[in-house]
Amino acid sequence: MGLTALPGQKVFLHGGDYNPDQWLDRPDILREDLRLMKLAGVNVVSLGIFAWANLEPREGEFTFEWMDQVIESLHANGQQVILATPSGAKPNWLALKYPQVRRCDAQGRREPQQLRHNHCMTSPVYREKVRIINTHLARRYGKNPALVLWHLSNEYSGECYCDLCKEAFRQWLRARYKTVAAMNQAWWAHFWSHTFGGFDEVDAIDPHVNGLALDWKRFTTDQTVDFMRAEIAPLREFSPQVPVTTNMMGTFEGLDYWRFAPALDVISWDSYPLWHSNRSDYEVASDTAFKHDLNRSLKRRPWLLMESTPSNVNWASISRPKKPGVHRLACLQAVAHGADAICYFQWRKGRGSAEKFHGAVVDHVGHEHTRVFGEVAAVGRELAAVKDILGSEVTAKAAVIFDWDNRWAINSSAGCRHSEKNYEATVQRHYHELFRRGVAAEVIESTCDLADYQLVIAPMLYMLKPGVAENLRRFVHDGGTLISTYMTGIANETDLVFTGGWPADGLMELFGVWAQEQDLLWDHQSQTLLAVPDNGLGLTGSYAARHYAEVIYTRGARVLATFEHEFYAGFPALTVNSFGRGKAYYTASRNDDRFHSDFIGGVLSDIKLHGPHGSALPLPDGISVQVRRQEGREFIFVMNFSEIRQEVSVADRPLRLEPWGCEILAVP
Ligand code: GAL
Repeated sequence: MGLTALPGQKVFLHGGDYNPDQWLDRPDILREDLRLMKLAGVNVVSLGIFAWANLEPREGEFTFEWMDQVIESLHANGQQVILATPSGAKPNWLALKYPQVRRCDAQGRREPQQLRHNHCMTSPVYREKVRIINTHLARRYGKNPALVLWHLSNEYSGECYCDLCKEAFRQWLRARYKTVAAMNQAWWAHFWSHTFGGFDEVDAIDPHVNGLALDWKRFTTDQTVDFMRAEIAPLREFSPQVPVTTNMMGTFEGLDYWRFAPALDVISWDSYPLWHSNRSDYEVASDTAFKHDLNRSLKRRPWLLMESTPSNVNWASISRPKKPGVHRLACLQAVAHGADAICYFQWRKGRGSAEKFHGAVVDHVGHEHTRVFGEVAAVGRELAAVKDILGSEVTAKAAVIFDWDNRWAINSSAGCRHSEKNYEATVQRHYHELFRRGVAAEVIESTCDLADYQLVIAPMLYMLKPGVAENLRRFVHDGGTLISTYMTGIANETDLVFTGGWPADGLMELFGVWAQEQDLLWDHQSQTLLAVPDNGLGLTGSYAARHYAEVIYTRGARVLATFEHEFYAGFPALTVNSFGRGKAYYTASRNDDRFHSDFIGGVLSDIKLHGPHGSALPLPDGISVQVRRQEGREFIFVMNFSEIRQEVSVADRPLRLEPWGCEILAVP
């Protein structure tokens, strides 16, 4: 058995968020839950996520008896427990007696007690109260045989502008810059007379001082990780053998998850794709795959799907229930991308409050005779049946760079284009070409080691943090293939623009181009690319470009396509440069789908990087193929994200896939 998400894991975990604390007056329901869990093949539940008010109803008064009972019954019934620390929602007594635990907005106004996920990460009072309850939980349950994992809080998020947070930010800045002169310089703070006379003058988080706004985001991540580490401390003390995770939110903008990974033993995330919406289900599947791959890449090992809905969500303006078969398909997709657990929000629908209409395994009707329950139970049986897949890994020779600092810097910079900057979508658009060809990918940040890859795609890598340019140069020099786009190599890690020409920091030599000007097109305007004959990638005819077109001059690169219009007609639109043993491509514009397909397909063909169907050609629309490997065996997942029956041949086996079907081939 290879590496599993949890140490010594023997079966795929299948279960979800369980809130018995909402049903303590209904022992009949709690008993019924146990029966239904067995029927649904549920072997794990996440407990106590929002149960603080029931665990400590008054300050210092603890009531764990109900939790003891629930855990004991679950264990006897065959369910393991993922136990949460309850910091995600604070009890009323705490928020009212200690107002400083509530967040302040950017204007310094303190929130009333409401909602959840809105405590101050800095507040010593909150940290102390969390330490106390976590210590109680760890002491009481840390050695409980049912406990397999700690679930830290819930979906950490948000920022607080209270005086304590601002002072912590100033300390963070002191540690980072040492002198205020260095900080002023790093932020270009002399602009608009924002020069700081001392660290204590840093007060409002002015978005116009881009470096400041960027550092605030980094601080918010660091402060959240610091809070999380404080949560972990008592758990480690009383249960060092139990791993810890926190449920993350995919590509959530507000926190850089790469900073979380080192503090966690296992990565888990909550995936809520909106199926059957205004985008094709294939696109939704591709975006979901991207996020799964990001989560796997954070530790380069199997991960846990901590939440997903068995049918619909309640927070989207419209969310359709998953059509028959889609639930199984979505679950197996997660497994294909490295998940060792499939868990749901939520086990049972509550009767009131905000989530009463959110999908659940057990509906308000209360029994097992529903379509959704049936599909969940079938997934439970199937996960038990495919347990050989557990411990297998996903290996990838391609990587796509998706970097939070870069994203924040692009999104907060005025200029370029204000609207439709679309960094995230651009990265996903590039990833999609790998996805639709069954080429496994990792989704990494710009500072990751690139040695294991044949192909790295780095769209819009505007920011070059220290070492990144050198990292890319080394990668290509050693034989790698790099694809980049417009908006590459423009600013350093504090968002100071490089002087001396872009792409900067040695990348001009790597790509063999100088990007002299940016043309930013209105939505109704477009540019055209013309493929140069014998370009070696199979590009033909013309392609449309929108939004971004750069006027680039070659410095040794070969031109593969040119622009047709404007004052830069005839200028290069796509170039390739040989550097050491590898090649670096520069795409000067944001291009149409046919371009992405021809170009990335051509590059994959050139470097002979194929999916399991043995070619760089795209799979039929709707089909995704992913592989998990273990000791010479391959488990090939062939998935049909479409409403039509499809035929496809993979690993020399012709397959017929039903609408929303998924086949798993074991080879040999
Ligand atoms: C998640 C959250 C859950 C539940 C769910 C509904 O973001 O962690 O507690 O609210 O959304 O989709």
